[in-house]
Amino acid sequence: MSPRNLPYFLSGLVVRGFGRGSKALGIPTANLEDKVVNGLPDDFDTGIYYGWASLNGETYKMVASIGWNPFYKNEKKTVEIHVLHTFENDFYGKEIQAIFTGFVRPEKDFTSEAELIKAIKSDIAFAEEHLIQPDMLAYKNKFLTG
Ligand SMILES: Cc1cc2nc3c(=O)[nH]c(=O)nc-3n(C[C@H](O)[C@H](O)[C@H](O)COP(=O)(O)O)c2cc1C
Repeated sequence: MSPRNLPYFLSGLVVRGFGRGSKALGIPTANLEDKVVNGLPDDFDTGIYYGWASLNGETYKMVASIGWNPFYKNEKKTVEIHVLHTFENDFYGKEIQAIFTGFVRPEKDFTSEAELIKAIKSDIAFAEEHLIQPDMLAYKNKFLTG
């Protein structure tokens, strides 16, 4: 699968999701406002991506999920970012800028939360590995200066 539209840049405010990311999964995600979800190109593939996210003047590695979370059968499409950094506070109401630089996999359904967590951990490892490659680091630098 080779999604088009990459790299894809977006910015938006963090809104409340279902709150399952932190509580049930131990993997907090920043859900982005409807404007961002509705602004995605029609041909933007749902699935799991990696890239860079900037907030509070810092840029961090991130993984993101775009779609309907088939495991939870959401009825509304979401754009959720898990920043690969431990924060003291949540960031509801803050603005995040993000650049999606690579695709990991399509969204999947799972038979248990443990399986979903395992898949997300493997996505994170995949992102960590790819984001240190020179072509991916170049996006971070461009992002910071641009
Ligand atoms: C890297 C990553 C991969 C994900 N992959 C899937 C997936 O394959 N299937 C799925 O149903 N949800 C997936 N999710 C979404 C989680 O189900 C979602 O983040 C969780 O339900 C928390 O949502 P909430 O913030 O609205 O509570 C993924 C999330 C992340 C960050």
